[in-house]
Amino acid sequence: MRYLVTSALPYANGKLHVGHVAGAYLPADIFVRYLRLKEEDVIYICGTDEHGTPISISADKEGISPSDVVKRYHESIKEAFDGIGVEFDNFSGTAREDHHKLSQEFFTNLHDKGFITPKSTLQFYCHHDKRYLPDRYVEGTCPKCGASGARGDQCDACGQIYDTTSLKQPTCKICGNQPEIRETKHWFLQLAKFTEQMKDWISHKDYWRENVRNFMLNLLDQGLIERSITRDLSWGVPVPLDEAVGKVLYVWFDAPIGYISSTIEWAKRIGQPDLWKDYWLSEDTQLIHFIGKDNIIFHALIWPAMLMGQDKKYCLPHDIPANEFMNLEGDKISTSRDWAVWVDEFVKVFPGEYLRYYLAVNAPESKDSDFSFKDFQQKVNGELNNVLGNLANRMLSFSMKYFEGMVEKVELTQQSIDVLKEADDLLMEIDKSYQEYQVKKNCKLIMDMARLGNKYFDDRQPWKQIKEDRQSVKETLWVSMLLLHKVSIALTPIMPKSMNQLRRMMKLPSQYSFADAFAEPCGKVVIEKVEALFSKLDDELIDAQIEALKSKSIAKAISQEYLPIKDTISYDDFARMDIRIAQVLHAEPVPKTDKLLHLKVDIGSEQRELVAGLALHYKAEDLIGKKVVMLVNLEPRKIRGILSQGMILAADTNGSLSLLHPHKDSMPGATIS
Ligand code: MF3
Ligand code: ZN
Repeated sequence: MRYLVTSALPYANGKLHVGHVAGAYLPADIFVRYLRLKEEDVIYICGTDEHGTPISISADKEGISPSDVVKRYHESIKEAFDGIGVEFDNFSGTAREDHHKLSQEFFTNLHDKGFITPKSTLQFYCHHDKRYLPDRYVEGTCPKCGASGARGDQCDACGQIYDTTSLKQPTCKICGNQPEIRETKHWFLQLAKFTEQMKDWISHKDYWRENVRNFMLNLLDQGLIERSITRDLSWGVPVPLDEAVGKVLYVWFDAPIGYISSTIEWAKRIGQPDLWKDYWLSEDTQLIHFIGKDNIIFHALIWPAMLMGQDKKYCLPHDIPANEFMNLEGDKISTSRDWAVWVDEFVKVFPGEYLRYYLAVNAPESKDSDFSFKDFQQKVNGELNNVLGNLANRMLSFSMKYFEGMVEKVELTQQSIDVLKEADDLLMEIDKSYQEYQVKKNCKLIMDMARLGNKYFDDRQPWKQIKEDRQSVKETLWVSMLLLHKVSIALTPIMPKSMNQLRRMMKLPSQYSFADAFAEPCGKVVIEKVEALFSKLDDELIDAQIEALKSKSIAKAISQEYLPIKDTISYDDFARMDIRIAQVLHAEPVPKTDKLLHLKVDIGSEQRELVAGLALHYKAEDLIGKKVVMLVNLEPRKIRGILSQGMILAADTNGSLSLLHPHKDSMPGATIS
């Protein structure tokens, strides 16, 4: 049996953030490291996904070539993986020539068998730019909900998809002109022709995760429909047909082929150019694709169909562990809003291993999870430091202090035998969970094992025994060492570097397998020096991270054209606004609302009442006595039964309001001009 493990090829169009890592990379890397501990034959394959419209759009925007964009992000992504110890056997890219050739071979094979057929379709065409506009090149008003800024085929506001040509007020994203609708020819993958084969294949996949299996059963239930697999673009794999000039394969058609082309590249690189066949063309291979949930349809339906339609007998995916999403501080991760924790920045502040542990313990396996800096701090301090680090530290320091680092095998009493047995039971459970890609559960089980060690240590009170019964202290240390040995192996897939360090301190062999966790290291170990395995994260550091995250995303919001400057007005228009200093006399929440405050203010000549939407940003009592800036000649309006006579001015930073504070010398009633 061989394993071929892949992670979704990341788009070479942006940096790597923690959500990506939690979804498709860390779980795979952990699984691969586990398989290696089990002495299985495994290769781990990935690369960057280098085609697709977003890449051409970025290139157009920056005035560089798509291949420059790709090179930049390929390197940056690779470095980010290095920083957190995600290690592939090969990390390729889909813009390479061999990949293009193989993708064309895939197309031709399917085309020759009648699985790919052409059809005329309607599409936007920009006269100014003399080109067809793929969906993401057009923007307009959503035909379903009326929101502006809707994409060609999907609206971010309502999430609905629609036919491109039904988009209202379309504009070309390159030049801003209105495109026209024209006919163009595209090629479609006839998925329905694979229905029976697909049903049969899925029927054997009862071990799949529920989200993936149900998704597929649903699709099969609804009936498979054809999918367009070509685009009018210049960046991509040219469609290998004479009549398809200027057209390329849809990025989702060529990208998964990257799993194969990257494996071929690997085989060449290690000097055994045919070795890739042992994996891809053998029935003995378990092909496992780690992905995020948004990629299910491509990996569980389209890709397998593409494989089924080839002359070569490629192996089909054995399993497709798809993860849910990871949010950030309670909000969806968003690259465009810069609401993301970027891996390269994170590892400049924290050890990459902490990130591995946190993303594992908080893995979005069966439901979405949330990345929070406070929670991260708590897991690092409360689990890594207080549980595992503590066990290591007390065992190591104690043996240094009283036995010059010598920890020897001794006769075991029942208590010790029981503890070790319990640890072995945990190990067996851990073994099973790794096979089922359950890393979150394993973090817990491994911490349980370390807790078992701490409890054992506490119960035996070696600090007391040392005066009366050195033999029993030796036993405590030997057993604690054994527990750490077991933990170090069990945690290796998740925290390889730290576990290596731990084993080095205990002078345990650096080569080991999972089975060794059940065995004893030979007769004794000699500890030489004791270093702290982990260190705690203090509040200041964590708070600074949260602060930085927030201000980055606010800066991004302001820098983007979210807030275009309004049309110019004349001086007279401005002069008609009567803006004055006011002082808050009284403030209280408006009953049965959570946003509104009822204020009474002094504007010099008189007192006014008004209703302000400040309650989410200020406590009523904190406002009393404050001087503020107010528009006093706004037409009065009744809000919740209160006549609101004016408006308090505040800065709106991405929805967060802060009042303008006049200098203390300015008196209520003073005009502002
Ligand atoms: N680039 C895609 C994404 O990030 C994933 C491609 S996976 C592959 O969503 F199978 F197509 F390679
Ligand atoms: Zn245009």
